[in-house]
Amino acid sequence: MKIAILGAAGRMGKMLVKLAEADEALEVVARIDVAEGYDRAWPAGTEAVVDFSFHEAVAPSVEKAASEGVAYVIGTTGLTAEEQARVDACAARIPLVQAANYSLGVNLLLDLVKRAARVLGPEYDVEVVEMHHRHKKDAPSGTALMLANAAADGRGVNLADVACYGRHGIVGERPEGEIALHALRGGSVVGDHTVMFAGDVERVEITHKAQGREAFAAGALKAAKWAVGRAPGKYDMRDVLGFEK
Ligand SMILES: NC(=O)c1ccc[n+]([C@@H]2O[C@H](COP(=O)([O-])OP(=O)(O)OC[C@H]3O[C@@H](n4cnc5c(N)ncnc54)[C@H](O)[C@@H]3O)[C@@H](O)[C@H]2O)c1
Repeated sequence: MKIAILGAAGRMGKMLVKLAEADEALEVVARIDVAEGYDRAWPAGTEAVVDFSFHEAVAPSVEKAASEGVAYVIGTTGLTAEEQARVDACAARIPLVQAANYSLGVNLLLDLVKRAARVLGPEYDVEVVEMHHRHKKDAPSGTALMLANAAADGRGVNLADVACYGRHGIVGERPEGEIALHALRGGSVVGDHTVMFAGDVERVEITHKAQGREAFAAGALKAAKWAVGRAPGKYDMRDVLGFEK
C-alpha cells in the first residue's frame, strides 16, 4: 500500500516513517514537510495520507486528497471550528479517519470514563488533567477534550455547557456538574492524562501514560490500512478497533 506521511520531519512524523518503512505491507511514497529536504506533495498513485502536522495544514491537504480519492488519516489536533467543518465536508468523498489519540489504551479509557461518569453521577466532581512536553502547541490536548467529552456523554450533557478551562483568581465555589480541564506543560512528557472523579468520601482516578510515540504511530498506520478501500465517511479509531459505539 502506497502511503504518504504529512509532517514527516516532526516528532510523530519521524516515528511514522520509521514504522512504515519497517512494514512490508507499506511503501512510503512521500515524506512531506515544510522543512528543508522533504517532499512538498504526494505522487499520483498514493493510496493513503497520514497527517501529523499542524492544524493550518490539515484542511487544504484533506481537500486535495478528496479531489483525488485518496484515503486520509488525521492525527493532527487543535483544528479551528472552520478548519474542522472543511475537513468534515470531505468525508462524503473519501474514507477519513480522525482521532486525537490512536493508542489502544486511550480508546479503552474513553469507555471507562463514560461508564464511571454515568455510575458516579454529578456529585463526583470531574477534573481532567493532562501533561505534555514543552513543545506542544495546542491546549488542552485533543485527548483531554475527548476524555472530557466521554465524561459529558456518560452524564448526558454537552461538554460546552459545563466545561471549565483552568482556574485563576476569585472563581467562587465549584458549580455542581462542572467538567474542568487543566493542561500542564514541561520537559519531554509524551502524554499523561488523568480523569479524576472527586466525591465527598472517595476519589476515583483513571490514568493513562504514554511511554513513547510508537503507540500513536502504530495505531495511525493500522487506521490507514483499514481505511483504504472503505466507503467514504468519517471514522475514528474506535471504528478501526471494532469497539462498540
Ligand atoms: N492523534 C494522536 O494520537 C497524536 C499523538 C501525538 C501527537 N498528535 C498531534 O500531532 C501533531 C504533530 O505533533 P508532533 O509532536 O509530531 O509535532 P512537531 O511540531 O514535532 O511536528 C509537526 C511537523 O509538521 C510540519 N508542518 C507544519 N506545517 C506543515 C505544512 N503546512 N505542511 C507539511 N508539514 C508541516 C512541521 O514542520 C513539523 O515537522 C500535533 O497536532 C499533535 O497534537 C496526535
